[in-house]
Amino acid sequence: QLIWHGHDTATLLARAAKELAEKHHYTGPFWVYQEALLSERVKLLEQGLPGCKFYFSVKSQSNLSLLSLIAAHERFGADVVSGGELYRALKAGFAPGKIVFAGVGKSEAEIAVGLDLGIRSFHVESIAELSDIARIAAEKSVVGSVSFRLNPDVEVDTHRHITTGKEENKFGLSEADFAEALKIVKASPSLRLVGLQAHIGSQIFDVGPYLKTAEYLRQKFNIASEALGAKPEYVSLGGGFGVNYQQLEGNAVNFDFAALAKAVQGIFASETEIHFEPGRFISAPLGILASQVRHLKQRTGKIIAIIDAAMNDLIRPMLYEAYHPILPVQRREKKLVYDIVGPVCESTDTFAHARELTELAEKDWLAIGYAGAYGSVMSSTFNSRLLIPEVLLTEKGEIRIIRKPQTLEQLLANEVVN
Ligand code: LLP
Repeated sequence: QLIWHGHDTATLLARAAKELAEKHHYTGPFWVYQEALLSERVKLLEQGLPGCKFYFSVKSQSNLSLLSLIAAHERFGADVVSGGELYRALKAGFAPGKIVFAGVGKSEAEIAVGLDLGIRSFHVESIAELSDIARIAAEKSVVGSVSFRLNPDVEVDTHRHITTGKEENKFGLSEADFAEALKIVKASPSLRLVGLQAHIGSQIFDVGPYLKTAEYLRQKFNIASEALGAKPEYVSLGGGFGVNYQQLEGNAVNFDFAALAKAVQGIFASETEIHFEPGRFISAPLGILASQVRHLKQRTGKIIAIIDAAMNDLIRPMLYEAYHPILPVQRREKKLVYDIVGPVCESTDTFAHARELTELAEKDWLAIGYAGAYGSVMSSTFNSRLLIPEVLLTEKGEIRIIRKPQTLEQLLANEVVN
């Protein structure tokens, strides 16, 4: 029997599959999330980092139902990176004053919408962007609230695809940009500096890099306060808290929040608000990708299990060589070695190579764990495969469909035969 955070996974998946079949005549793979886990993860942060505020990283998980559950928490806002995410955050109930807008390449239209709404701030990544905001705000006769995303050049021990705080990365303002940016704000009546921010990467387990970043931001905080004659309202240390992908049941915490809280308190006292932008820490454990075995093929030394989910649903294993636990819901005695692959026409469509699992049979359900973050949000319709539905297990134990299966009509809706 496979238990996922207090629930028998076989029963849970069967209930969700039945609901999808009855309501939508749907019989494919799906995402399932647990509300109770979301509440727990939120609470862990609220208790672990007292006094701090959180801007949930919408890019990690953007389902409206899940976002609205997060929006209900007083100390949570939203960190968005596009007009689409901004729209979602508003629809989910985040007040504009609790939304920050990040991203290296904001368009003029996105800046205009953010200014019209009066969002908490734009996390500015370049001098050119700062000038755009100043100009568009002036045209609208409003004052744009901006924060500088700084590049602290901090080394983080994580996958090379997800480090962001190094000088060579495309993100943030360099030392020279910072001085220039302060001059621009000082000279622009249409700009107000409200914060300083840095995000150094993802899947971080050490407090050390955050402390280096906090110290770096402290120096810049002093410089900015002096140059502008007012202290920025907040300092944001970004997201990045790591999660352990090795277990399915896990609601484990692999980060020393107490040490971080103490150190950050020591560096900033109560001079300014401290923000974090967690994504994965909250959203990863919430979700599993449920998929059924379609066919089995014997190869030398291993068996290839073709499942009905594919790289277009969950691309992390293919894109980052990321490990996800894959747990057969039907437990058999014997153990065998499997390649778990999807039906997409590419060799890279492989969830796991040579993974030892309990014996599989056709139609068995698999739970692919820790799939709540950067899972459904990174899905595509490659191979014209439809986006799969999302299901929520509520705290009361109800099954709710929170995203319907995409239909063939929707797939082609915007295409025009000319
Ligand atoms: N803040 C900023 C400015 C970010 O760029 C990110 C993530 C976060 C917060 C949230 O980081 P988290 O707490 O989730 O680590 N697709 C990759 C991860 C890319 C992360 C990009 N930035 C993956 O699947 O591992």
